[in-house]
Amino acid sequence: MITAYLYGEPFDTEAVVEEVPIGDRQTRFTVTDEDGVRIFRAPLAPSDAVYGLGQTMRGINKRGGRYVSFNCDDPRHNDEMPSMYGSHNFFVVDGAEKYGAFFDTPARAVFEIGFKGSGEICVRCERDVKLYIIEGESAYAIVRRFLRAIGRSFVPPLWAFGFGQSRWGYKNEKDIEKVLFGYRKAGIPLDYICMDIDYMDRYIDFTLNKRRFPNFAAFNREMKKFGIRLVPIVDAAIKEEKGEPTYEEGVQKGYFCKNREGGYFRAAVWPGMTHLPDFLRPEVRKWFGRKYKVYTDCGVEGFWNDMNEPSIFYSEYTKNKALHKYILKNHKEDPDFVANGFFSDYASFYHEVNGKKINHYDVHNVYGYMMTRASCEGLSALTDKRFLLFSRSSYIGAHRYGGMWTGDNTSCWAHLRQNLLHMPSLNMCGFLFSGADTGGFMGNCDRELLLRWLALSVFTPLMRDHTSKSTRRQECYRYGKTEDFVSIVSLRYKLLPYIYSEFMKAVLNYDMYFKPLAFVFPEDRRAAKIEDQMMVGGSMMIAPFMEKGKSERTVYLPEPMTCVKYDGNNFLCRFFPAGEHIIIAELHEVVFFVRKGKLVPVGKGAQDTSSLRLDDVEFLGDGEQYELYADDGYTRDVSLDRIRILKK
Ligand code: GLC
Repeated sequence: MITAYLYGEPFDTEAVVEEVPIGDRQTRFTVTDEDGVRIFRAPLAPSDAVYGLGQTMRGINKRGGRYVSFNCDDPRHNDEMPSMYGSHNFFVVDGAEKYGAFFDTPARAVFEIGFKGSGEICVRCERDVKLYIIEGESAYAIVRRFLRAIGRSFVPPLWAFGFGQSRWGYKNEKDIEKVLFGYRKAGIPLDYICMDIDYMDRYIDFTLNKRRFPNFAAFNREMKKFGIRLVPIVDAAIKEEKGEPTYEEGVQKGYFCKNREGGYFRAAVWPGMTHLPDFLRPEVRKWFGRKYKVYTDCGVEGFWNDMNEPSIFYSEYTKNKALHKYILKNHKEDPDFVANGFFSDYASFYHEVNGKKINHYDVHNVYGYMMTRASCEGLSALTDKRFLLFSRSSYIGAHRYGGMWTGDNTSCWAHLRQNLLHMPSLNMCGFLFSGADTGGFMGNCDRELLLRWLALSVFTPLMRDHTSKSTRRQECYRYGKTEDFVSIVSLRYKLLPYIYSEFMKAVLNYDMYFKPLAFVFPEDRRAAKIEDQMMVGGSMMIAPFMEKGKSERTVYLPEPMTCVKYDGNNFLCRFFPAGEHIIIAELHEVVFFVRKGKLVPVGKGAQDTSSLRLDDVEFLGDGEQYELYADDGYTRDVSLDRIRILKK
């Protein structure tokens, strides 16, 4: 059961698509008002677990932490970081009492979940809010009910489930060709190469640097012959530049956010001073979305949207260096400093919604969501096939329009672990097509870390190696003994019949693709606490290797399972009884488990998805039949009718 409660007149985020009845008296939380901030409090029993909150740091059980919903571009992804790029205000309490709560507000909200041992949940909402309370029998059932209410996830084409290579620093055709041939020569599968901001003319959206890409359409066609798609980046802000068509049009039509004085707000991002499109207005979304035509006309089928928190380096009001220094000095110790938007100046510009002027600070968290919506709606009108789209910033609702990646992580073991922890929490909030920068964005990734990270990314729907400029080159073929990389990445392609089927079934059944063990084995107290193993789809459990120098780890099986080790050639299967086991995997190997009575289909693999057969499979495990989802990989018409039952 799901009921909504109104506190004031909240902004309509369109996060929930279902008609939900409005209740008159909510009993889960007590509500008080302190200086205009609404405070919701609910007790927590000592053994209650709290799941959800999407892209937040720390573990799967969010207890003990403080999380601030205020989208920000800050790469310090440590456990104390209160905010990240997206805000996902849904959580579920799992104990003697079970319920879900979604605080639907686009403004800043603070979640303290048993923080400092308080024994309560305390949510502070700075603006009006629509609170949804979801009741159900189990945490898992509550999440599934919520997923139905927020609508079906975005579905990318099959090729987007292949492996992608990216780097901030690929500048021209030559750089991209080198990557293609590096991969093909080493025999490591690859489906797409991302183009970061250097493909543009001076970082201006919807332009191409003509010197670096003299004939982009022809180049893109050529790449496709090699089975490679090019995936350009699109940033939120538009460079302020006379004569530049997008800028001029936006100015003439009044499509940019306004400043305090009623002029266009000026903020610095990669291109220098820019204006921010007012994505909250439907006509602006339509205009921006149709701009992708310059790429689709060249045959481009995939995009990543970036800097859409929006990320602002400084604004027309904060560019004063002395002021900057003062703010930095005085807020150095304040973990909310960036998250509060002082630095980014989020209170100095305005949107226009239904003719009403709204301060950005009040609707901050839906900005990236509305950009993704603009792109998705534009692309849906421009092409009749599915396309790849993933965004850095998001809010619940954005999952219907695109996927997401988890932003600027670092090449370190802690961030590999965080990648695993993020996945189920994001799934609970609707984001099924997600993944991290494999190998890490900042810092220099070593061989061991890259191989172990790839071995996790094999299972994440978005599997992309991305890194920053001036870091060590992170393409797999540059790390020597490339057969180890062939082994891991080939496994992804062999498992695609499973990964694609399980992803599509999760989408169509409003289900999760990554589930914590607690959701599948709720009666098993030990399993419920495990955060370094994960259920993937309906048949599989994974136990990634996430410690430096370790090729051995303990794994706990809540039920008997088939242990599968892939060594680059064969799937070695052994039956394991329930309980604790030690597993061993060298750097080129991946171990996973097939649940009792279930099957995992494996195909022949391929160098890219164009030659992949989804239905030519063998089976691992002791089950009898498997529901395989297979289609042409690009039709928009995804439906449960495409499931076929295959017998072992
Ligand atoms: C941002 C993105 C990163 C990208 C860089 C340059 O930091 O998160 O992925 O490489 O901008 O565009």
